[in-house]
Amino acid sequence: MHMQKGFVLWLTGLSGSGKTTLGDRVEEELKQRGYLAERLDGDLVRKHLWKDLGFTKEDRDEHIRRVGFLAALLSRNGVGVIASFISPYRAQREGVRKEVQNFIEVFCSCSLEVCKQRDKKGLYKKAERGEIPNFTGVSDPYEFPENPNIELHTDTASIEENKQKILDYLKGHGYIR
Ligand code: ADX
Repeated sequence: MHMQKGFVLWLTGLSGSGKTTLGDRVEEELKQRGYLAERLDGDLVRKHLWKDLGFTKEDRDEHIRRVGFLAALLSRNGVGVIASFISPYRAQREGVRKEVQNFIEVFCSCSLEVCKQRDKKGLYKKAERGEIPNFTGVSDPYEFPENPNIELHTDTASIEENKQKILDYLKGHGYIR
C-alpha cells in the first residue's frame, strides 16, 4: 500500500506573484514521482465552488475558512495539498494552520512593481483606474508572512529554482523521498 504523510503547501502572495504557475509545477512533479497531490487555487475554487463570494474582508475570510476545511479533509487522508490563494490576512493563514495537519506556509515574495509589470490579467491597470474595488496591493492590504516556512523570491529566482526549494523542504521534512 502506498503510504504518504499528508501536508498542505500554502502559497501566499500578491496577484501575479506566480503562485498558480509554481503550484502547478510542484503538483506535476509530485504526481510524476507517484505521490498523491491535489491543487486548490483561488481562481478555480471561486469559479467552481462559490461564485457568490467576493473580495471584501468578510468574503475573503469566509473563502479561506472554507478552503481550509477542504485542505484539512484532503491532507488528513494522506494527500499533498498545494493551495494557492492571495490570503492577504495573517489571521486567515494562521486559522488554516490550526485546522490542518502539516501546514507549510510558502511566501511567494514578489515586488508590487514586478506584479504590476506582469499584469497578465490586466487587473492592476483596472484597479488603478478604480474599476476594481478592494484590489490587493492597490486598494486593499497584503500582510506579508513574518515567519513563513519557506520564502521564495518569485521576481528574481526561476520557477525551476523555486520548485526545487519546495521539493528540498518536503524531502528535508520527510514528506517525500
Ligand atoms: S483571496 O485574497 O481571497 O485569497 P484569491 O487567491 O482567492 O484571493 O483570488 C485572487 C484572484 O482573484 C486574483 O489573482 C485575481 O485574478 C482575482 N481578483 C478579482 N478581484 C480581486 C481583488 N479585488 N483583489 C485581488 N484579486 C482579485
